[in-house]
Amino acid sequence: MIEEIKQAGQRALEEIENAQNAEQVEQLRVKYLGRKGIFKDLMGRMAGLSADEKPLAGKLANETRQAVEQKLKAKAAEFAASQPKPVKEVFDITIPGQRPAFGRLHPITRATNELVEIFARLGFEVVYGPEMETAFHNFDALNIPDEHPARDDFDTFFIKDDILLRSHTSPVQVRTMLERKPPLRVVAPGKVFRRDTPDASHYPVFHQIEGLAVDENITLADLKDVLDKAMKTFFGPDTRTRMRPSFFPFTEPSAEVDISCTFCRGKGCPACQGKGWTELLGAGMVDPNVFKAVGIDSEKYTGFAFGMGIDRAAMYRFGITDIRLLFDNDLRLLNQL
Ligand code: DAH
Repeated sequence: MIEEIKQAGQRALEEIENAQNAEQVEQLRVKYLGRKGIFKDLMGRMAGLSADEKPLAGKLANETRQAVEQKLKAKAAEFAASQPKPVKEVFDITIPGQRPAFGRLHPITRATNELVEIFARLGFEVVYGPEMETAFHNFDALNIPDEHPARDDFDTFFIKDDILLRSHTSPVQVRTMLERKPPLRVVAPGKVFRRDTPDASHYPVFHQIEGLAVDENITLADLKDVLDKAMKTFFGPDTRTRMRPSFFPFTEPSAEVDISCTFCRGKGCPACQGKGWTELLGAGMVDPNVFKAVGIDSEKYTGFAFGMGIDRAAMYRFGITDIRLLFDNDLRLLNQL
């Protein structure tokens, strides 16, 4: 019996050692330690042993059984540890990377930045004014008296009697001249507001860039030269500019400035109604009444001013035919530019 126990123990340890996987370990546990296992059988048969054999055999059987049990545990733990971890994420380094979706600047922002840069190279600095203005800055100081049709609340958003959303960027001229002394050369880009019903060329919010130069001996020739250079840089070197006499309360003389049509380059096409020219901005020499309102001596100083629609410039530049497209935020438009 003793010999039998020893042999069974040895065989068990060997077989466990040679087990190839966790299932085999489990099978061996059943085989040796199970309810109908070899050790159960040995224990059962011990009852028939003599009184002096029994304790010895019992002790040996217990020890062997414990050794087997330990070996089973150790082996099972070994397999558990070596089992590959469940794979959560397979990283394939050969898959091309996902491109981040780059945003880009809106055509109005691009046009504004470019125009500001062009005028900066011509010696103009950038200034900004509030979008909510006083009637004094938006009208009175610009020689637009009370009864002038531009003050009509049908084309202006009034907040209070004398506070409104600015209807042009020209009030920034007034603010600049009140704050500083000539010589002055500034451009002022920004939003302006009018009670216009949206159509292909009108929108109640749009953008302008205002220009102002004040110094001794500034002439209309300086204005023409600055605008000509700026337009050639913005629209292309073959762009021509022309001035037509016009009227603005804050300039004298005043002019409408046209550029040669950017679509047909001046030949005449449907975009320019066959004229070969498109109207782009208003300009002129600063009216002495404006100088008076801001306390600049009009005997000593002269100046030119201009105001240009940025949206319209962006449309000509990027070939957009309806201003509303600029405000729809449709990515199909923005992605093309
Ligand atoms: N403020 C004018 C407008 O919104 C545009 C303009 C015309 C600006 C002539 C000027 C200027 O500075 O000299 O229609």
